[in-house]
Amino acid sequence: MRVLITGGAGFIGSHLADLLLEKGYQVRALDSLDPQVHGDSPSRPDYLDPSVQLMVGDVRNRSDVAGALEGCDILVHFAAAVGVGQSMYRMEHYTSVNALGASVVLEEAVRRRDSIRKMLVASSMSIYGEGLYRCCECGDFAPRLRPSEQLERHEWEVRCPVCGKASTPLPVPETKSLFPASIYAINKRSHEEMFLVTGQAYGIPAVAMRFFNVYGTRQALSNPYTGVGAIFASRLLNGNPPIIFEDGLQSRDFVHVRDLCRACAMALENPAADGRVLNVGTGRPTSILDMAKAIARHLGRPDDDFMIRDQFRAGDVRHCFADCSSISELLGFRPEIEFDRGVGDLCRWVATSTATDRVDAATRELEERGLTR
Ligand code: UD1
Repeated sequence: MRVLITGGAGFIGSHLADLLLEKGYQVRALDSLDPQVHGDSPSRPDYLDPSVQLMVGDVRNRSDVAGALEGCDILVHFAAAVGVGQSMYRMEHYTSVNALGASVVLEEAVRRRDSIRKMLVASSMSIYGEGLYRCCECGDFAPRLRPSEQLERHEWEVRCPVCGKASTPLPVPETKSLFPASIYAINKRSHEEMFLVTGQAYGIPAVAMRFFNVYGTRQALSNPYTGVGAIFASRLLNGNPPIIFEDGLQSRDFVHVRDLCRACAMALENPAADGRVLNVGTGRPTSILDMAKAIARHLGRPDDDFMIRDQFRAGDVRHCFADCSSISELLGFRPEIEFDRGVGDLCRWVATSTATDRVDAATRELEERGLTR
């Protein structure tokens, strides 16, 4: 069985490639080796298993995609432009890579519908916007982003829209209304809809995985638009304090990349996932401050030397963590890598890596555009 992973030379794609090779699949990767991720003179990453057949190309280029899909039975679409903040000023680029790229990939998959047995697409928790909350007086609610007047007052927690009291975050099920708050999130919502609609129309089994905040080795440390774990690690590695937006008590569901890839493999191999969207997280919230502390401890740095900005980043949500019942009931998936062990694993790799810290420049770009204040 041959699998094509678009974006297969990247952070998550390369880990999925490892797992699928172990399971006996042949793996091909189509990857543009984007300089923002792979550096200024990109080449095949050392971490990519030598058995992966790497084809360097762009998902918007029909002949690249056609060549890559030739002889494949399974399509995994991971190739995407992925910086949430950056998507708010490079809108055309994001929509081009994400929406046009997915369209070309799908058209070429449809042409091979007699041989493609399954399609899996990476979606993202960012499509939910804010998480789900409970007010002890008024019940559960799924709010839009916090009003800017509230954020200007530096009041970070989500309040009940009816009585104004403080609320408690709840795990987010797949059924929660979607309020994407960035161009990237809108692109990701389209990805899942495009794959599921096309899969259904042409009878190709398809599944969309809503990834929560993925962390682990190989995340691009010099890419200031990547996830918070890699950004904090890169800051600390360069002797700079992590920059923490708001008060650091906002939370996310950090899922280790190897657990996430196991979930993807289970979804590929189990028809129960067909036609579904599935959250992939741990079900446990962790504050951004705790993430910073854990990374600092594992890198042997002081765990109280952070730059807490007391400022917000436009489009950020306060709390979002997964309700994992669907994936657990349908596929029997349970995360196995406990947070501290996962961060330890990340930091052992970080300690042997080099990273250029470009976070100050990226933060300035957001500031200049009024996207953090
Ligand atoms: C992240 C990913 C998104 C992915 C989603 C689900 C990025 C940029 N975002 O979104 O692609 O779809 O997870 O997997 O890769 N923060 C700081 N300091 C920093 C950076 C971030 O305090 O230097 C804070 C943010 O303000 C936010 C939290 O950390 O409150 C998480 O930010 P981030 O890692 O960018 O993740 P998401 O926006 O949740």
